Amino acid sequence: MNKKIQKILDKKSKTKIICLTAYSKNIASILDKHCDLVLVGDSLGSVLYNYKSTKEVTLETMINHSKSVRLGVKRSIMVVDMPYNTYRNPREALRNAKLVLKETKCDGVKLEGGKKIIPIVKILVKNKIPVMGHVGILPQTDKKFTFKGKKEKESERILNDTKLLEKAGAFSIVLECVEVNLSKKVTNQIKIPTIGIGSSANCDGQVLVIDDLIGLSKSKFKFVKKYVDISKIIDDAVKKYKSEVLKKLFPKAKHSFKS
Ligand code: KIV
Repeated sequence: MNKKIQKILDKKSKTKIICLTAYSKNIASILDKHCDLVLVGDSLGSVLYNYKSTKEVTLETMINHSKSVRLGVKRSIMVVDMPYNTYRNPREALRNAKLVLKETKCDGVKLEGGKKIIPIVKILVKNKIPVMGHVGILPQTDKKFTFKGKKEKESERILNDTKLLEKAGAFSIVLECVEVNLSKKVTNQIKIPTIGIGSSANCDGQVLVIDDLIGLSKSKFKFVKKYVDISKIIDDAVKKYKSEVLKKLFPKAKHSFKS
């Protein structure tokens, strides 16, 4: 087992695992100081490109953003989302995941799904590609984005999916909007870490979209906590800059070149 991945596994039940998304270098280099895992999420489709769904995100877009993120991530694990329709069968998944690893030098890939993707997870793991699972709300394929685990049948299926993913060799699993008791049950019944988003403090770690956490997005999801209003800070700075330029207070002599 890869040493960096083993470090994440070792945190299970000992200390919470800190994850955030990043889409570019400058933010990634800040997150790298504090996170165990930085995820280049295909959420960039809605966050940066205003796409209606992550279905529109291409492999090329993921690779380009990941190359930028790689420049900022030195110590944490960097995982890249495999976008929609890039892992429809084991052959396609292996070809594309190999390309992602080669181009971005990431530490692993994340795939959405349960039972259906098990042969894909197995072939990637067999080829030494670390895989992070993703169950609960599946933004690439779900039509309705309501929390999962309300009904017994759904809960049983999700629990079973996580066990299958663990058995197939996934090193951790994102639980997206999974009901509180179900996230506890899953976390207690599998040996690999669960990383929650909207899935309560019962998970082994937490992940959020960075733009939501810093107030750069307009996200109103129940599970988001805005820790700072960076939009306001940027707005104030730009206003000040504009005013100083208009009043000829900027640039000053110290900002200019004289021969
Ligand atoms: O795409 C993404 O950013 C994600 C996280 C929210 C888990 O999958």
